[in-house]
Amino acid sequence: MASLHKLPIVVILDFGSQYSELIARRIRETNVYSEVLPYTTPLDKILALEPKGIILSGGPNSVYAEGAPRCDQRLWHLSIPLLGVCYGMQLLVQDLGGKVTKSDRGEYGKAALMIDDPTDLLTNVEDNTIMWMSHGDTVESLPEGFNQLAHTDNTPYAAIAHPEKKLYGVQFHPEVHHSIGGMAVIRNFVYHICGCEPTWTTGAFIEEAIAEIKAQVEDRRVLLALSGGVDSSTLAFLLHRAIGDNLTCMFIDQGFMRKQEPERLVKLFREQFHIPVEYVNAGERFIAKLKGVTDPEEKRKLIGYEFIKVFEEESQRLGPFDFLAQGTLYPDVIESAGTNLDPVTGKRVAVKIKSHHNVGGLPPNLRFVLVEPLRKLFKDEVRRVGKALGLPDEIVRRQPFPGPGLAIRIIGEVTPDRLQILREADMILRQEINRSGLYDVLWQAFAVLLPTIRTVGVMGDQRTYAYPVVLRFVTSEDGMTADWAKIPYAILETISNRIVNEVPGINRVVLDITSKPPGTIEWE
Ligand code: XMP
Repeated sequence: MASLHKLPIVVILDFGSQYSELIARRIRETNVYSEVLPYTTPLDKILALEPKGIILSGGPNSVYAEGAPRCDQRLWHLSIPLLGVCYGMQLLVQDLGGKVTKSDRGEYGKAALMIDDPTDLLTNVEDNTIMWMSHGDTVESLPEGFNQLAHTDNTPYAAIAHPEKKLYGVQFHPEVHHSIGGMAVIRNFVYHICGCEPTWTTGAFIEEAIAEIKAQVEDRRVLLALSGGVDSSTLAFLLHRAIGDNLTCMFIDQGFMRKQEPERLVKLFREQFHIPVEYVNAGERFIAKLKGVTDPEEKRKLIGYEFIKVFEEESQRLGPFDFLAQGTLYPDVIESAGTNLDPVTGKRVAVKIKSHHNVGGLPPNLRFVLVEPLRKLFKDEVRRVGKALGLPDEIVRRQPFPGPGLAIRIIGEVTPDRLQILREADMILRQEINRSGLYDVLWQAFAVLLPTIRTVGVMGDQRTYAYPVVLRFVTSEDGMTADWAKIPYAILETISNRIVNEVPGINRVVLDITSKPPGTIEWE
């Protein structure tokens, strides 16, 4: 069986840039497989992958600083094509005898790239194209045998090459969205310089993943905790294709889903996808556990703990199982360089959503062997695989929903009445956001109930004294940072009117206009 890692691969060595993962995603967009490894990876481990090309990422350090991260010197003398990006290029230059210094004027943001040699790496890149720069150091002189391919107003050596040795460097970031000609540079490198064929496709992935699952699982049984999100649903489709009835999907309803979602999910799987689902209605257990609990962290812990208990009981009832399927994705398993520094504070910053944010929250010591067929994929690739397997848009495009669900959107104690009120308000918000066509533009749109306060209102001739609800709309790339979304007033007005008129228990609607940071997306 051909295995995924035998596809032609371009390896990215990560020197701590916030864009290292993005380079991998961009390469994969050209249908060439790519992985990110820390710059400290031993050369023999890199060579064992038989890379068709190597990219050295950017990074927050200066190559001339003491203790700056370096790579194995033998890298410069392999006959494997190599592209240094920003820090990576400066390292290449310095190690081969050129000079890198601090520049008088750093260059941050967009810059026009003037092409001196329109061939090779810069084929099809227009002269004067906009590229995105972010550097305080600059290459002052080139090592022997290198040519200048392009410059900008502030940077004489914006792109360089030693074509015979297949060594290349760019000072700009071709991977970022603002670099207009960036994808052309990446395509030139992977196709023409590295000689890769576009073999990394959704179809190829599905075929290989199914073969790998079959080989791993054989005729044994796999348990999958379904949440209704795109990852666990795609996983269910993939596994069902591979092993059919040896897959058991279990959906634990904690009682904190949005209105009609548990019913809808079970119906879709059973009736439309013909994938059996064990529905576990555990609502009463969870609400009993949360009685009197108001502290957000305690709520989360109790929900997580109860989830594991229910999961263990139910898996025993339905088992025995040999394997547990998990929707682990590539960003969860990437080993990063660990040198991500905040450019403003200089402090190390986390690059990923914390693992407790991943659906399920199962402890690592469960006695199952794991099946993780999505572990090579980025989120957008999971969506494509899900779509190719026949997942409907309503799941493929579904906004993220936290594991503890509505329980962390009711501030203070969670009670059945409060859940009921929040579900109704949230439903109205969703209906109007769907109607407006904004659903796909937003990372998340949801309501938060504040039942620890009541405010005075007037409806008809009646004084009311009821709860406020908060509307939360955010845009985001990855949930790590987020902007509050500027929803048109007319839509806000409709949502507000409908909620106050249609949901008993709510008499006031307020809007959250906090970005992340300093706020978080969820309220608890
Ligand atoms: P915060 O509130 O930390 O959330 O800004 C960032 C993103 O993570 C989601 N989130 C969770 N997802 N389990 C999850 O699966 C959780 O416990 C959890 N808590 C927050 C949140 O909805 C947002 O998209």
